[in-house]
Amino acid sequence: MNELELLDIAVQVAADAADTARRMRNEAINDVGTKSTATDVVTAADRAVEQQVIAALAARRPGDTVLGEEFGGAGIAGDGGVRWIVDPIDGTVNYLYGLGQYAVSIAAEVDGEVVAGVVRNAATGQTWTAARGHGAWRDGRRLTGSPATELALSLVGTGFGYARERRVHQAAVVAQVLPLVRDIRRMGAAALDLCAAAEGMLDAYYEKGLAEWDMAAGGLIAREAGLLVTGLSGRPAGGDMVLAAPPALHGPLDALLTELVADGGP
Ligand code: IPD
Repeated sequence: MNELELLDIAVQVAADAADTARRMRNEAINDVGTKSTATDVVTAADRAVEQQVIAALAARRPGDTVLGEEFGGAGIAGDGGVRWIVDPIDGTVNYLYGLGQYAVSIAAEVDGEVVAGVVRNAATGQTWTAARGHGAWRDGRRLTGSPATELALSLVGTGFGYARERRVHQAAVVAQVLPLVRDIRRMGAAALDLCAAAEGMLDAYYEKGLAEWDMAAGGLIAREAGLLVTGLSGRPAGGDMVLAAPPALHGPLDALLTELVADGGP
């Protein structure tokens, strides 16, 4: 199966999953728990949507494996060659508060490389997609990122982890970035932030501490839109840092964040 066929599956599964997330909201917010810290919330819908996605993928591709935010590597065993990376609801805090910025994110990884990805805003139905080598799209429109060339005139998105010490460090970094850019946005769903950067609704985005499910689909979408998606100082994107920016902004932002040791600390 090629990347476009895998994308097709991901798009169908994400659409159904997003419907479930939206429908479940009223009941799900009465069943809220916490995970790594008191600020790291999980609802009944996060689990139900992930179970639905696992079952839907298993029905279509019984030999594949799934890595999901709520159930880890559980779900499907086998060696179909594809590892699906799933965030059932990215932006769970937004979901809890009825802020319309939460999404289902599904990526297909083959031989360690993400080859297809979809991010669907479950509140609005807007859908961003990419397959390796086929560009990035939002609802039929091709995405090419922001034309911005000056950091001082750039709208920069970021996000914060849940652990207190990490937040202290991230707050110190953002306090130094803010005076040097047009403004900062913290919208609350990393997958949608990466899509916003792919679409030019943010000029650039960075965040330390993302998990694979936060960045797998959105990272491919940003790359396919022509952005550089890396860690700092030539390192690959990962938990230490994801920096997504058009080539003209990537160097200056990389230099600034490196100087601030934005990928350091807890
Ligand atoms: C979180 C969101 C948030 C980002 C955090 C993520 P979740 O994911 O993407 O924007 O700043 O780092 O953990 O918990 O809502 O799936």
